[in-house]
Amino acid sequence: MRIETPSGELGEMSGPRLRERLEALAKISDEAGALTRLYLSPAHRRAADLVRQWMEEAGMTSFIDGAGTVVGRYDGETSQSPTLLLGSHIDTVRDAGCFDGTLGVAIAIAVVSRFAEAGLRLPFALEVLAFGDEEGVRFPTTLTGSRALAGTLGSDALGARDADGITVREALTAFGCDPEDIPPAARDPRRVLGYLELHIEQGTRLEAEDLPVGLVSGISGAMRLSIEVEGTSGHAGTLAMDRRSDALCGAAEMVLAIEARARALGDLLATVGCIRVRSGAVNVVPGAATFTLDVRAFDDELRRSTLEAMLADAGDIAFRRGLRLRHRIEYDQATTRCDTRLLGFFSTAMERRRLRPISLASGAGHDGLAVAALCPIAMLFVRCRGGISHHPAEEVANADMETAAVVLVDAIFEYASEHAANHKIQVNTSL
Ligand code: GLV
Ligand code: MN
Ligand code: MN
Repeated sequence: MRIETPSGELGEMSGPRLRERLEALAKISDEAGALTRLYLSPAHRRAADLVRQWMEEAGMTSFIDGAGTVVGRYDGETSQSPTLLLGSHIDTVRDAGCFDGTLGVAIAIAVVSRFAEAGLRLPFALEVLAFGDEEGVRFPTTLTGSRALAGTLGSDALGARDADGITVREALTAFGCDPEDIPPAARDPRRVLGYLELHIEQGTRLEAEDLPVGLVSGISGAMRLSIEVEGTSGHAGTLAMDRRSDALCGAAEMVLAIEARARALGDLLATVGCIRVRSGAVNVVPGAATFTLDVRAFDDELRRSTLEAMLADAGDIAFRRGLRLRHRIEYDQATTRCDTRLLGFFSTAMERRRLRPISLASGAGHDGLAVAALCPIAMLFVRCRGGISHHPAEEVANADMETAAVVLVDAIFEYASEHAANHKIQVNTSL
């Protein structure tokens, strides 16, 4: 399904142009031969600088806030105009694809550049945000940029350490930010109208429905934990099997028990994505194993009660094997619903383009989870091939990127029309 554009010319919003930008960003990596751009890394800094340059070229003023979020601002009709936030993230997982997050940033910049080219000012300012910590891969916590924006980032978050022992505070300084600038990065909710994000679906519903875009009803709640199993290390050649307190074997049994609980439930996802073993040598019985646990469900109560049961299972396993067990909850985020009024703007925009406005729930986490503490949020998903994501084969068709951009423009116009009607002002709503 292909959409005709408002004036026939997409310019910066054209698929080839968007792809060019996404490919340019994908070349900026911390790892040779793969796309890996972790929060506050040297590659993140280079990507942030490139995004800033694009924002300036698109007619925005730009800056990087205290948490490393790149902010581009396109003023409204007056300096007093409130702000509508757009955007997504520019950090990636390890060995990532080039659309997760960056698609929403590239389209938002392209959309603003269309407004600027047309010399059109809206009754509100548009700000494009390129967050840096949506994936939360480097540090045990996540959504640092969006939580700073919402004013909900606790000071303890700055003390979190990466695998090399570097704290968020130190990494921010190395990135060129001043952690003292985090409190002022928080926005005044009275000045912010809402947050709209475009993101790849990372699933196959849109493909199955033959639709380029879909509405997001809400974002699943999630918890991240660090679980430490402590046993006793020993000689692999002399310590008898029945005298061992092998931390890795205990952790392995816990991982399978976690999987079994999640499988039995169906409506909950649990993942152990990382395990570290001490001392990690071929001839040493592991004395300690630390693993991560990510638990997600739309039903917050189910998520909490299942986690309790998983920790009780782990406790039983530890007791039986003579191991000590500690856990820390690094991140706990309730399920967030998208705002029905903002979704209505997307939905009207889709109907105008003869697109059936189907609604999808997001199992993946997004910055909107944190931004929702500041203002109403809504998301639009864009079809991605085979639902593949967090993988280099991630792919979005040019035509679908264009459709998403056009729907975003129309949704902004819908908002502007309603705002103008409520405030009894005139607004030009065509490009
Ligand atoms: C990010 O993609 C997440 O869902 O963790
Ligand atoms: Mn993402
Ligand atoms: Mn992701």
